[in-house]
Amino acid sequence: MEHLKIVASARQVPSRQVTNAELSTMMDTNDDWIFSRTGIHQRQVVTTENTSDLAIQVAEQLLAKAQVSAESLDFIIVSTMSPDSLSPSTAAIVQGAIGANQAFAFDLSAACSGLVYGMSVASSLLSTRYRRGLVIGAEVLSKLVDWQDRTTAVLFGDGGAGVLVETTEEPIGLLSEELRTFGDKGDNLVAGRFGNANPFSGEITLADPYFHQNGREVYNFATREVPAALEAALAKAQLSADDVDYYLLHQANARIVSTIAKRFGQPETKFPTNMASNGNTSAASIGILLDELVESGQVHAGQIIALVGFGGGLTVGAQIWKI
Ligand code: ACO
Repeated sequence: MEHLKIVASARQVPSRQVTNAELSTMMDTNDDWIFSRTGIHQRQVVTTENTSDLAIQVAEQLLAKAQVSAESLDFIIVSTMSPDSLSPSTAAIVQGAIGANQAFAFDLSAACSGLVYGMSVASSLLSTRYRRGLVIGAEVLSKLVDWQDRTTAVLFGDGGAGVLVETTEEPIGLLSEELRTFGDKGDNLVAGRFGNANPFSGEITLADPYFHQNGREVYNFATREVPAALEAALAKAQLSADDVDYYLLHQANARIVSTIAKRFGQPETKFPTNMASNGNTSAASIGILLDELVESGQVHAGQIIALVGFGGGLTVGAQIWKI
């Protein structure tokens, strides 16, 4: 067992709420359709902030909650599919803004599995010579949404969340994980495609920033591959589904969450959700949920929790933590 502690969690969502009712004044949709298919009633959308602004707020909260200095950080990982820019990375912007002058920083791109993949990398780093770091998932997906396209615009929201992790002598940490990538299925969920019109190109390819997804395929993928990854992670940890106190799944769709709860014979109360108020915030969703549950006291030290991401790539990642 690795000895790794989640010392603090934090979240930051923009204050502008956009309800399904408001969206229905902009496009041909309605609360009934959106809520019955996804469990989403509203989402938060930025008015002025970029991805780094949300991530910086999360980082500052994490340092304050853990009562440690920025200089004590060894690394900062920001998982995002909607960075401010490719260079500098969003993580580098955070590192500079908070004055973490001993830390190296980089972005990680794994869409909605981003926080789980980031925690995996952090766990590896902490098993070597590093002692403390931040893992943040931050997204301004509203940059990537075609606000004319009702099939995607109703699904996503903006937000940031993360954790401060460090090594510990306590017998806790990441018990097991199963991360899988299905690159052959990547075309089912794309966003942020670059074009190329270099003077040597035989063929000019056009840029397309917007989300396009084959919703049915992604739905089927999630309900097939999430249980498979979760089963594998539980088996590696030599635990049964009953042993887990809470399952924190990526908040894409309430139907996906309840299908998976049933598959494992678990009560839905062990699969908390918040997509009703936040929409799908991709790499931020699991961290936002974790911080809400820590704040309410439902999730606390001594428990076993599962963190499960799935989405673009296509990717899936399941981890079992003793916290
Ligand atoms: N309002 C009203 N009607 C709509 C809307 C809308 N917002 N969007 C689509 N429709 C219509 C469609 O045009 C279609 O009409 P038609 O039958 O006349 O052609 C009808 O509703 C049904 O559309 P479907 O796409 O078949 O609807 P479905 O039941 O599959 O639900 C959804 C779509 C919610 C996207 C679902 O497929 C889903 O949740 N998939 C999973 C997506 C997901 O989890 N993504 C996670 C990864 S995200 C990431 O990694 C960033």
